[in-house]
Amino acid sequence: MLRTVVCVSGGGTNLQAVINAVEDGRITNVQLVGVISNNRSAKALERAQNHGIPAFCISPRDFTEREQFHEAFLEKLRELTPDLIVLAGFLVAIPPAVVREYEGKIINIHPSLIPSFCGVGYYGLKVHEKVLERGVKVTGATVHFVNDGMDEGPIIAQKAVDVEEGDTPEVLQRRVMEQAEWILLPKAIDDFANGRIAVENNRVKTTDVTLCEPSLCIRKSV
Ligand code: GAR
Repeated sequence: MLRTVVCVSGGGTNLQAVINAVEDGRITNVQLVGVISNNRSAKALERAQNHGIPAFCISPRDFTEREQFHEAFLEKLRELTPDLIVLAGFLVAIPPAVVREYEGKIINIHPSLIPSFCGVGYYGLKVHEKVLERGVKVTGATVHFVNDGMDEGPIIAQKAVDVEEGDTPEVLQRRVMEQAEWILLPKAIDDFANGRIAVENNRVKTTDVTLCEPSLCIRKSV
C-alpha cells in the first residue's frame, strides 16, 4: 500500500473525490495516511476527519519566518513517511527542499490546460477569471508531477472542458471540477499506485499494465 499524503488549502472537493475513490475501490493500493492544510479553517480538514484520516494544519501564520514554515512542513511530511504526496488544491508554493526529497513522488492538479493559464498568480478561482477575461472557448484541467518550476513538471493527464456563454468564474470552476478534476486526479493516483506510469525525458507514459514496482520507475527517471 502506497502511503499517501494529501495537501489542501480550502474546500477539499478534490480530496473528497480521492477519498471516495479509495473507499469504493476505484483507487487501489493506496492508504491515505494524512491530510495537511496551510489553512486552519479549510473545510478539507473536516472532510479528512469525517473519514478517519489524520488531519494537520501547518500555517505560515504560526511562524515569523517563511523558512520556519518550510521546515515544519517538511518535518510533518517526514513523520508521515509518504510514498506519494498529492497537492489537491494546495495553494502554497512547495519548498524546494520538499521537491528535492520527494522528487517524482509529488503530483498536483491544476484547473487549466497547462501551459495555458498557469504559473505565478494562477490558482483557484483566479484561473477561471483569467480564462473568461481572455475569451478562450476551451479550458480544462491537468495532473502533473511537481518539479522545481511552477506548474512545469511532466504532464500525467489532461482533459478539456468547454467554456459556455454566460459562464461566471464560479460556474466554470464547478464544470471543470465535475468534468475533469474529480475524474483525472483519482485515475492518476490509481495509475501511479499500481505502477502504470513511467517518465522518460520529461514525458509521462501511462499504460494499462503494471510497468514496474509502484513509483520506482518514476523515482529513477523524472
Ligand atoms: C481546484 O480547482 C484545484 O485544481 C485548484 O484549486 C482548487 C481547489 O479546490 N488548484 C490550483 O489552482 C493549484 N494551482 P478544492 O479544495 O475544492 O479541491
